[in-house]
Formats: sequence, C-alpha cells, structure tokens
Amino acid sequence: MSLALLCMCISVFEVSTFSLTNCTVSGALNSMQNLKVFCYKMGFRTVPSPIPRKVRYLDISFNLISNIKVEDFEDLWNLRYLNLSNSNVSWIQEGTAEHFPNLINFNLANNKLKRVSEGLLNGLVNLQVLRLDGNRIESIDTYAFDSLQKIKVLNLSKNNLQQIANVKPVLLSAGLEELFIGKNNLDVFTSSDLSRTALSLKKIVFSQNPLTKFEISENIFPNLTFLDISHCGQNRRMLWNITDKAFLNSVTALNLTAVQIPEESITTVLHNTSWDSLNKLRISELKWIKAETLTQYACLPGLKVLRLQRNKISNVTAQMLAPCSNLTELDFGDNEISQISALKELTQLRVLHLQINKLTKVENAFRDLPMLEFLDLSRNRISTLTCSDFANLTQLISLYLYSNTISKLPPCIFKDLNNLENLRLGSNKILTLGMAFKNKLPSLKVLQLTYNKLSKIYKKSFSGLSNLRTLDLGDNQIFEIEAYAFSELQNLTELKLSSNRITDKTIRDPAVFSGMPNLKSLELYSNVISFVEDVLQMPPFGNLGSLEILTIHSQRRGIEKMPSNLLQGLTSLKMFYGGSMNLNYLHPDTFTSTPKLWFLELSKNAFADDGSITAEVFHPIPKLSKLIISRSQIHSLNFLINANLTRLSVLRASENTLDVINQTLIQSLPRLKFFDLKKNTFTCDCNNWFFINWALQSNYTQVIYLNTYTCSYPLSLRSKSILDLNTESCNVNLDFIMFLCSLIVVMLTLLVSFVYQFLHWHVLYAYYLFIAFLYDSKKKQQHGFTYDAFISYNAQDEPWVVKELLPNLEDEQGWRLCLHHRDFEPGRSIIDNIMDGIYSSRKTICLITYNYLKSTWCSKEIQMANFRLFDEQKDVLILIFLEDIPTHQLSPYYRIRKLVKKKTYLKWPKRGEDTRVFWQKLRMALETKEGPEEEKALLSGQEG
Ligand SMILES: *[C@@H]1O[C@H](CO)[C@@H](O)[C@H](O)[C@H]1NC(C)=O
Ligand SMILES: *[C@@H]1O[C@H](CO)[C@@H](O)[C@H](O)[C@H]1NC(C)=O
Ligand SMILES: *[C@@H]1O[C@H](CO)[C@@H](O)[C@H](O)[C@H]1NC(C)=O
Ligand SMILES: *[C@@H]1O[C@H](CO)[C@@H](O)[C@H](O)[C@H]1NC(C)=O
Ligand SMILES: *[C@@H]1O[C@H](CO)[C@@H](O)[C@H](O)[C@H]1NC(C)=O
Repeated sequence: MSLALLCMCISVFEVSTFSLTNCTVSGALNSMQNLKVFCYKMGFRTVPSPIPRKVRYLDISFNLISNIKVEDFEDLWNLRYLNLSNSNVSWIQEGTAEHFPNLINFNLANNKLKRVSEGLLNGLVNLQVLRLDGNRIESIDTYAFDSLQKIKVLNLSKNNLQQIANVKPVLLSAGLEELFIGKNNLDVFTSSDLSRTALSLKKIVFSQNPLTKFEISENIFPNLTFLDISHCGQNRRMLWNITDKAFLNSVTALNLTAVQIPEESITTVLHNTSWDSLNKLRISELKWIKAETLTQYACLPGLKVLRLQRNKISNVTAQMLAPCSNLTELDFGDNEISQISALKELTQLRVLHLQINKLTKVENAFRDLPMLEFLDLSRNRISTLTCSDFANLTQLISLYLYSNTISKLPPCIFKDLNNLENLRLGSNKILTLGMAFKNKLPSLKVLQLTYNKLSKIYKKSFSGLSNLRTLDLGDNQIFEIEAYAFSELQNLTELKLSSNRITDKTIRDPAVFSGMPNLKSLELYSNVISFVEDVLQMPPFGNLGSLEILTIHSQRRGIEKMPSNLLQGLTSLKMFYGGSMNLNYLHPDTFTSTPKLWFLELSKNAFADDGSITAEVFHPIPKLSKLIISRSQIHSLNFLINANLTRLSVLRASENTLDVINQTLIQSLPRLKFFDLKKNTFTCDCNNWFFINWALQSNYTQVIYLNTYTCSYPLSLRSKSILDLNTESCNVNLDFIMFLCSLIVVMLTLLVSFVYQFLHWHVLYAYYLFIAFLYDSKKKQQHGFTYDAFISYNAQDEPWVVKELLPNLEDEQGWRLCLHHRDFEPGRSIIDNIMDGIYSSRKTICLITYNYLKSTWCSKEIQMANFRLFDEQKDVLILIFLEDIPTHQLSPYYRIRKLVKKKTYLKWPKRGEDTRVFWQKLRMALETKEGPEEEKALLSGQEG
C-alpha cells in the first residue's frame, strides 16, 4: 500500500509544470484562449520541453538553438504565434511545421538559415505572416511556399538572395500583400522574370539591393501602393525602365532615399511615370543633387507629403519652395538649415519638421502659415524666443521646442496659441516660468518641461491651463513649491516631479498639492524626501482624494521613516511605488487610508528585522494582488501568513535571504499565480520538501525560474540546484511514517472486522459465560429451576402465545413458563432479565417467525440459550417454526440456519391440520432432561 503511494507520488512529479524550465507563462495553463509562454533570452540550446499543449503564443527568441528536430514540438494545435527569432537556428528538420498547422505568425528572423527547403513550411496552410529576414538564405526551393495559401506578409530582407526569381512562387500566391526583400544581393529587377499577370502585392520594399536595372514591362503591380527603392543601385548607375507610364499609377507612397540613379534620371523617374496617386514622397539623402533641383522635380502636382531629410540644405528660399504650394507636410529634418527666408508659398502646410538643424532664432518665419498644426523645432540652437515668433499660429496643435538652449520664456510668447495641445520645452535652460503660461494656452493638454533649470514653482504658475492633463517637471532642480502652485489645474491627471531636489519641507504644506481634483498619478521619485516623525501633523497628500498612483521610490538619502499617516487622504490609491527608500519598518497603520490598493512595490529596502513588516500592515488592503519586495533583506515571508491576502496573484521576493518557504505560507495565498524567488538563500533540507514538490507540481502557480534556485545551506550542497535536493529521503521518511500509520490502521481495521465478523459471538459468549459463571455459582445451591421453559418470541406473535401456547402448556400440561411480558422483573435491564429467564428455565423455546428473525432481541435470546450448550453442556433450545420459512430465506440469519441444519425442530401445523401431534411432541421435548442425542431421537421424523 505504501509502495503504491510512493509510486503515485513519483508519477505526479514527472508531470512537470512550467516551473521546471526557464519559461514563464501568462494565462491559465488550461485556457484555450490566451495561453502565452515566454522563453526568450534563456540560453536554451534545445527547444524547451514540455511546452503546454494549449499554448497560443510561444516566444523562444534570443536563445542558442541551432538545430530544430521534428520531435522538438509536440502537436500544438492551438499555436498561432511562434517567435523563434535571434536563436542561432541553422537547420530545421523538414516536417517540423506540421506540428503547428494553425500557426498565423511565424518569426524566424535573424537566424542562420541558408535555404528555404521544400518541407520547411509544409503544412502551414493558415500562415499569414512569415519573417525570414536576417538569415543567410541563398536559395528557395520551388515548392517551398506551396502550403502557404493564406500568406499576406513575407519578409526576406537581409539575406543572400541573388535573383528575384527565387521568390517567384510566393509572389504568385493570390493573397500576398507585402513583400520585404531589401538588403539582399539582387542585381536586377525585371518584371518579366516574375510574372506576366497581375500580382496582388500592395507593398514592396526593395531597399539596399545593388540593382543595376529596375524594369517593369508588364502591368504586374496594379494594386501596388507602397514602393521603397531606397539605397538601391550602385555608384549612381541604376537603370530605370518603366515601359508604360501608367504601370505604377496606384502607388501612393514612394521612397527614393539615397537611390543610386544618375542625376538626370531623377527627371525620368519622376516625370516619365505618371504618379497619379502619389501623395507621399521621401527623397532624402540625395546630397549630391542641389536642393532647388530636388524640389523642382519632387513637388509633383498631387503631392501632399515631401520628406527631404539629410540633404544638406542650409537655406530655405522662396525659389526652392515655389513649386510646392500644395504640400500639407514638409520634412526638412536633419539638414543644415540656419535660415528660413520664406515659407509663404506653403499656404496649405499643416505639418512642418525642422528638427535637427542649425536654427538659432525663429523670427517671423511662420508668420504666413496660418494652417500650421504641427511644428517641430527640436534639436536646433534656438536660444531666444520673441513674442512674434508664434504669433497667428492659431491652428497649431503641437509645438516641439525641446533640446534647444532657451533660457527665458517671454510672457507673451504663447499668446495666440489657442489650440495648442502639446508643448514640449524639455532639455532647455529655462530658469523660471514667469508669466508664460498664465491665462494662456486654454487647450493645452501636455506640457513638458523636463531637463531645465527650474528651482522654484510659484503660486499659480499654471493658472489658466484648465485643460492640462499632464504636467512634466521632472529632472529640474526644484526644491521649493509654493502653496497653491498647481491650483486651478482642474483636469490635471498626471503630475511628474521626479528627479528634483524636493524635500519633506517642500511638500510639508498640504496646500502644495491642492487644486487638482482629478489628479490620478503623482511622481515624486528620485528626490530627497525624508522624515523623522512617526506621525505627521499635516499629511502632505490630504487633498489628493482621486490619486491612484503614487511613485515615491528612490529617495536619494532614504526616507528614513515612513510616517504612519503619510498616505492619509489617498482614499483612491491603487498603486504605491515605495522601493529604494531605505525603509526598515512599516507601521501597521501605513495603509489604513488606502483600501483600494492592489499594487505595492517595496523593493530595495531594509526589512531585515523580524518585526519590520507584520501581517497587520496588510489587513487594511485586502485587494492587494501584486506585491514586489525584492532585494529587501527579508529572511522570511511568514508575515504574509495571517495577512489575509486572498487576492494576491503576483509575489516577487527575489534577491532576499529567504531560506524556507513553508506549507502554511503557500496555503495562505490561494490565488498566487507568479511567485518569484530568484537568488534567495535556500536551505536544502526536508523543510523545503513541501515547497519544492508544490512548485514542481502546481499548475496554477508558477514559481518563476525554479531551476535557477540554488542551495545556500548546508555548506555541502552550496550552489547546487534546489531541485537536486534528494527529496526522496524526506519522501521516504514521511512515507515510512505514513506506512507505519496506515499499516497499524489497516491491521486494526482488519482485526476489528475479523473479531466482529467471526469472534463477535465468542467475545459475547465469554462475557456471558462470565456472567453465567457468577450466576451459576449463585444458583448452584438452588438446584432445580423456577421455570420449565423460557419462551423467546416476538411481540407480534403474542396472540399465538396467549391463545395457543399458554392454554396448552400451562393449563393443560402443567408446565411453568417464563414470558417476558409477564414474568420479567420491571426495573432490571433487559439483558439481565433475559439471562435470568433463560438460566432459571430448563428449556428455551424459540417461536420462529419472520418478525422474530428481524428482531435483535430475539436473536440475542437465541444466542444466549445457545451458550448454555457450551456452558452447561445442556442443549436447552427448542425451535418452533410458526411460519413456513424456506431455508434459503434463512440465509441472512446464519446463526439460525446453522441451528436448523444441526438440529431438528418443531413446526406448527398449517391451518386446519391436527395440532395434537405437535403438542405431544413439544411435551416430550420439554420432558427430556439431557443431551441432544436424546432429543434428536425424540424429535426425529420431523421434516427439516
Ligand atoms: C536556464 O537559464 C539559465 C541561465 O539563464 C541557464 O544557465 C540554464 O542552462 C537554463 N536552463 C535550461 C533548462 O535551459
Ligand atoms: C486589386 O484590388 C482589387 C480591389 O481590392 C481586387 O478586386 C483585385 O483582385 C486586386 N488585384 C489583384 C491582382 O489582386
Ligand atoms: C526597357 O524594357 C523594354 C522591355 O523589356 C526593352 O525592350 C527596352 O530595350 C528597355 N529599355 C532600355 C533603355 O533598356
Ligand atoms: C525610406 O527608406 C529609408 C532608407 O532605407 C528608411 O530609413 C525609411 O524608413 C523609409 N521610409 C519609409 C516610409 O519606409
Ligand atoms: C539664403 O537665401 C536668401 C535669399 O536667397 C539670401 O538672402 C541669404 O543670404 C541666404 N542665406 C544664406 C546663409 O545662405
């Protein structure tokens, strides 16, 4: 039995769950819908195993799996997305893909595959996206893509393909929409090599192929909308030959960045083809062509978007932009522009990119662009701004001025920007905000002022920004914030004040954070806040009743102490980031004001003392579902045992000094799904036996990267995996105990049932014998009996006794009978009465009927009478069957059956038959004094 138990345990261990490998799982192991398995960057040299059968999304990227064999994958019918990129794969056995026929997205990018063989993709009839980019593919078998009936996107860029004909088979598949074949070794592209009929392609990227010829002589791309031939050609010699002007007239976006065609061919490309649909043209990095020439050809009549990045343009002149008056978007990014002489031709312009140039001032450049919605002036050299710079830009929605050298904001500078929603002023040298924002920018939603030199925020600096949602003041030098500095920011949801010089004094006055009724997130990390008090007089966040996220981690000098009422007033708080604060104690009242808290991050603190955190800390926050307490010097998680965290699903406690994880702890966290205990100092003995087995078996909780956990104690096992711990010895010990216990229990059970079954009567007999002995010794002297017969019968048969038996035996024959309804002494126990009755009678007459058989008392009477046979060597029993009971119906009453088999008995005649013989025989039976033989002789002749 214990062996069976042992076997059971062992077989359970073998059904390993995902804790075993280096993978993590999101979603329930048994869910069909969303099971995701992540095994990336884990140094796997083979496909990890076992992969849960129902996986839908599997990421094994960034490993070292050079060969993939058919048997590496079991049948994964649910798999839709497989990422095997960046894993050094050089060989995949043919037929492997047949194990995941429902795959939709297959990523094999950045491996070392040399060939797409016929069987590689066999069976992938549902595949829509295939990435083979970044391999070393030189050849593609003719039928390699035959299975791919639903392919939409094929990426073959960065390989060694020499000829476009290699991809011919897949190009012909009816659904292919996007082909990426850039950065190969294609030296000609001629449509006649591919097809004579129309293809379904919508997007082709040919970039970075050393093409000498780009020739289209059939209308094979009727639906093409995106064509990228950037960086194609060599030494400016690519031949452009489109035999019919109309062949590319569905193209809407064309990328000619750094295309290597002769200067004069630019004209051919742009003007001998009818780009009827073209509205986006990228013509960057053609530095060797004069900017004026470029715009002259590029500004085609229907063109809306023109990108002219990295063309070394230095002066934007009227002449240059003359042909471009229809443009809505113009990108001059990354040039050398220091002067903008005229933009007034661009009356339709909505988006203007001037980032990464050499502008030092803006002056009146944008005066004539009333339609402008987006203006990017970031990463220039602008140091001063004047009030007229953005005058009249009433339609402007986004203005980027980050990464310049602006130090001062004139009060009037944003005066006309009534529609501005997004203003980025980060990475400048702004010292003070002054009146720049006051009562302006009514539409502003995002204001970014990071990496400036602000040191003080004055009262009502932002008043009027009634639509502001996000205010980012991070990475300044703010140490003083006046009370009501942020008041009137009715709609502010996010306030970022991280990486400043804010101290506890800065925020001492609760009015600092007043006037923001909708604030949801407050960032205060990386400041110098610290406290000495246990309880604050005025908790700083009292006015932030809507705040949901407070990020206060990483205080540069450590917070020292977290006052027990620091969070008072934060009744909506859901997430608290309190890591790296050198905290060593959490007061049980810390979270009493924050009942909605579900996320708590307390990593990198110093909770080394036993009482640093107690279960009481968690009692006010029963909704907690994520607790992160890594690198916090804790050596036991037992404070969670009585914390009532019934909703905790993620617990990260890596890099502590935990040594034992006990069963009670695990049982007190019923919803735990992720349990991260990496880099702890486990004790490898039987104390962790339960934990290890549970971690291996649980298919609800993942103990993340269990296989990397090592032993710290005992020294002999140091740095061994805890999975090497010979739990069998614990197992056996426990098992042995279990074995002993169960053996004892089994033996006892057997014994008891045996006794009950077979010796019950003998025990009872012994008891009665003892009683009888006492009785006998009492009665020995008496000699003789009070009664001639004790009548054992069921109450239901009393009428017969009264009407037949008594008149015949007592009245007529003169026997003295003992009847329990008449002769039992009231007050004595029934059993005593029965004993008395039986032992003071010479004989015992049992009147057997169906009712008699069913009654327990009657059967006891029979037993006791039977004992006298042993006891006194006298057979005192006389059986009378009042009803006709066939022997087979006696079988449940085996005692009687045995008697009936051994003894003869009397039978009450059937109705109407003569009863005289019966009475005669009964009298004779009563008269016999001794021994069964005599009686037998007497009663023989009765049918049995
Ligand atoms: C798991 O990851 C560790 C470290 O990343 C590595 O040393 C180990 O070999 C991996 N285990 C398996 C089964 O691949
Ligand atoms: C081009 O697009 C149209 C409309 O979407 C479609 O009916 C037609 O079949 C496509 N042509 C090819 C060759 O796929
Ligand atoms: C352009 O292609 C057509 C068709 O293949 C060919 O007849 C013609 O000679 C080519 N033109 C040049 C200049 O190569
Ligand atoms: C155009 O080509 C350049 C160079 O290959 C590339 O960086 C850029 O992303 C392309 N633009 C688009 C819109 O594809
Ligand atoms: C830019 O062009 C304008 C008009 O052609 C000219 O007056 C100005 O000197 C030029 N600036 C530079 C820096 O070339």
